[in-house]
Amino acid sequence: MGFNPTLLVFTAILMTWAGGAHSATHCPPCGNTTVPYPLSTSTTCGDQSYKIICNASTGTLVFPTLNNTYPITSITPSIQRLTIKPSTILPNTCVTADLSTQGILLNQSLPFNVTSSNTILYLNCTENLLSSPLNCTSTSLCHTYVNNTPSVSECESAPICCSFRAGGSSTSYQIRVRDSGCRAYTSFVNLDPNLPVSKWPSPSLEIQWVSPAEPVCGSQSDCDGNSTCGPDPSTVGVNRCFCDEGLWWDPIDGTCVYNVTCQDPNGCDNSTDHTALIAGLSSGLGVGLLASRMVEEEKLMDVVDPMLKEGATTLELDTIKALGFLAVGCLEERRQNRPSMKEVAEEIEYIIAIASAKVAQT
Ligand SMILES: *[C@@H]1O[C@H](CO)[C@@H](O)[C@H](O)[C@H]1NC(C)=O
Ligand SMILES: *[C@@H]1O[C@H](CO)[C@@H](O)[C@H](O)[C@H]1NC(C)=O
Ligand SMILES: *[C@@H]1O[C@H](CO)[C@@H](O)[C@H](O)[C@H]1NC(C)=O
Ligand SMILES: *[C@@H]1O[C@H](CO)[C@@H](O)[C@H](O)[C@H]1NC(C)=O
Ligand SMILES: *[C@@H]1O[C@H](CO)[C@@H](O)[C@H](O)[C@H]1NC(C)=O
Ligand SMILES: *[C@@H]1O[C@H](CO)[C@@H](O)[C@H](O)[C@H]1NC(C)=O
Ligand SMILES: *[C@@H]1O[C@H](CO)[C@@H](O)[C@H](O)[C@H]1NC(C)=O
Ligand SMILES: *[C@@H]1O[C@H](CO)[C@@H](O)[C@H](O)[C@H]1NC(C)=O
Ligand SMILES: *[C@@H]1O[C@H](CO)[C@@H](O)[C@H](O)[C@H]1NC(C)=O
Ligand SMILES: *[C@@H]1O[C@H](CO)[C@@H](O)[C@H](O)[C@H]1NC(C)=O
Repeated sequence: MGFNPTLLVFTAILMTWAGGAHSATHCPPCGNTTVPYPLSTSTTCGDQSYKIICNASTGTLVFPTLNNTYPITSITPSIQRLTIKPSTILPNTCVTADLSTQGILLNQSLPFNVTSSNTILYLNCTENLLSSPLNCTSTSLCHTYVNNTPSVSECESAPICCSFRAGGSSTSYQIRVRDSGCRAYTSFVNLDPNLPVSKWPSPSLEIQWVSPAEPVCGSQSDCDGNSTCGPDPSTVGVNRCFCDEGLWWDPIDGTCVYNVTCQDPNGCDNSTDHTALIAGLSSGLGVGLLASRMVEEEKLMDVVDPMLKEGATTLELDTIKALGFLAVGCLEERRQNRPSMKEVAEEIEYIIAIASAKVAQT
């Protein structure tokens, strides 16, 4: 049988990538800031359990807690984490601006929690804290911080401060400040306590989110062409868009994707070299084409991984080109300008047929 296994793998990659390029559920950018799935800035995009706020006038994202909001300073969707800027310590006092709302309180019914990468410093604490498991000794990092940070010098006159690494069950959902406990706090992500305070990062609190389940649906019309609305076996009365057979749910991209891993040991070449080349091809083409939408042949070949081109036959290069042009078609902004899945499949079959016919001749 004449199908070139390498082409089949290219095809699988191409289809995955074409599928991932369009998702109805991703939110538009907030100003210049990308809003990755599953985060949601409106009821019509993202996953509604992952609500954040877009301040459109400043183009900045804001993280809502139970009674307050905090600016989002970074988002890393691949590890499902974001960082927020903690409340500042008010001038001429040792009190954080969010004392009135008791600091950072997360709604425990939502899929966000505080990661164990945070070192929390509690300042201006009452004696109650001395019986807590926190480190409130005179060598605690909070003293190091206060003694070396002019902006919080007021806290030097508040004798009790404590530090701890977040992530315990009692701190997964709150960094609490109150009159009967501590009145100020700050937080540092991945702090190396051996560094001098002048080398510490800016105050920041890291929050992680639980992998999103498939989107909730009322009917099939809420699901895209790759999934079917059906009952969620783990939650009675909830329906979700479950990926159709042969596809799987990718909680990072928020789409159904083809498994790149080959299912047929006879039909694929899974040597590591190839994996690297294919990754190069898919990312090179993907990034290059998405960035510039160029369609000129030379440029198209420029973005193909150089390692892949080296040693490729003219036929293989032609095939890559053909698949590349097809991919450009799939990236068209308007739906009516994009080929349908059926047309794509036919086109790929045609390309493969030509390639394998020529291979047979040689
Ligand atoms: C998923 O569905 C969308 C819209 O129906 C379609 O454009 C895309 O090609 C599909 N992706 C896959 C991997 O089937
Ligand atoms: C977005 O970026 C453009 C170009 O870098 C800049 O001119 C514009 O002010 C930015 N807009 C916002 C809201 O940050
Ligand atoms: C957006 O940010 C500006 C400047 O920080 C602020 O004045 C405004 O109240 C914010 N708008 C919303 C809706 O939060
Ligand atoms: C500590 O907090 C109390 C209660 O809010 C406040 O009155 C006091 O001024 C704070 N101490 C310092 C040194 O700022
Ligand atoms: C949060 O807001 C609710 C409703 O406004 C209020 O009842 C509650 O006391 C507030 N909690 C805190 C900690 O501020
Ligand atoms: C917490 O989140 C749940 C789930 O979205 C919501 O029903 C509830 O009202 C929230 N609680 C508060 C106090 O906001
Ligand atoms: C408190 O923290 C300091 C500085 O990290 C450390 O040297 C000390 O051993 C800690 N003490 C306790 C009781 O954990
Ligand atoms: C916090 O979230 C992570 C992953 O999102 C989860 O594994 C962990 O169990 C959560 N922690 C708590 C205390 O809920
Ligand atoms: C596809 O990949 C996912 C995640 O790697 C795996 O759980 C699933 O079993 C795979 N599906 C098939 C049909 O191999
Ligand atoms: C490819 O992987 C399959 C299953 O993991 C294995 O059985 C097969 O021997 C591998 N083929 C090559 C060429 O490494």
